[in-house]
Amino acid sequence: MALDQDDADYDSYVGNAILTAASATEGGMASEQLVDATLVAATADLVMLEAEALTAHPSVAQSVRVRSSVRVLTRVHELAPGFALPRQLIDEPLALLDRWARMNDVATAHASYQCAVAVSGQVPSVVRDAIDITLLPTTRVHDEQMFVRCIQIFESLYRQVADRVAQSIIALDAGNTDQTVALLAEAARRVRATRVLYRVLTTMPPDAFAVIRAHTHGRSAVQSRPYRRVEDLSAPRPPGGSQASTTDADRCGTTLQEILLLRERELGREAATPVRQTMSELDSAWRAMKRSHWGVTLKTIGKVRGTGGTAGADYLRVTAQRPLFPLLSTPA
Ligand code: HEM
Repeated sequence: MALDQDDADYDSYVGNAILTAASATEGGMASEQLVDATLVAATADLVMLEAEALTAHPSVAQSVRVRSSVRVLTRVHELAPGFALPRQLIDEPLALLDRWARMNDVATAHASYQCAVAVSGQVPSVVRDAIDITLLPTTRVHDEQMFVRCIQIFESLYRQVADRVAQSIIALDAGNTDQTVALLAEAARRVRATRVLYRVLTTMPPDAFAVIRAHTHGRSAVQSRPYRRVEDLSAPRPPGGSQASTTDADRCGTTLQEILLLRERELGREAATPVRQTMSELDSAWRAMKRSHWGVTLKTIGKVRGTGGTAGADYLRVTAQRPLFPLLSTPA
């Protein structure tokens, strides 16, 4: 990472400016389909990187890494439902996982690579190019490449979830409860699908991550704007409750929780019950995702401070308990 040693931050590490530009339409608006295409391309590249590493240095640990990466490929249609892949490209990695135990490392590496190439071939070249030029690790440790790809996958997903929450505020404000439920249910499905990603992250060896951490000081996903946007749009946050990085534009306006309370007063509690239930589903999925992140962090770095300056795992344990919609988790 030769480009920003002096003013390093999370956005440049992820390549956010490039990925955002690649997923914009000609009018400059983000295209939901292209954001999902970014996620698909990052997943395919993750599988290719790991398969190549297995071919170069076969080992049980690397084979486990490739298998968990291929499992992500089998779930891209849930992580990124807006980018439709032919059914055959979802079935192929599933069939490969079934055959896994009967194949040797060279064969699994080759077959995984081929599956990923086929998926990557579906992605528009502008997105593929953006993915190519945003692999900007700070070390020569192979595991950092996996880390960068996982962060990019999550970042695209946070963007989509934040957009769904923003759109559901508008829909509920207009009294369209069916659309609100559909948007929030889709967001919850995406968040639940992140489970497969933690199975990849958990293959990160602590000694390798110690080297990466030593070179990524000041860069942390605690600075992720779409992640913070999800939380800020959901309900009013107590000041100083977490690391803020959203803009004023995201913070102003009415949150989803506030709109729900207004609508319940107008329409009656019963009419808004499906919305309430879907918000609870999203809340559960979001907190489960945060608990998994806390678990991986504890396993990988123990209780040392984070590169973003927080207390690390202890900070994550506390924030994972915080509901997305605090008023829904207490009896009304
Ligand atoms: C082995 C892998 C990982 C470890 C050890 C780890 C560790 C940490 C730590 C210690 C923090 C606290 C903030 C700080 O001081 O830096 C944090 C925050 C965070 N991390 Fe990770 N992380 C990992 C992977 C990821 C990945 C792949 C993502 C996806 C983007 C991610 C997303 C986040 C987010 C969004 C926060 C802010 C949480 C909040 O404020 O509620 N992490 N991480």
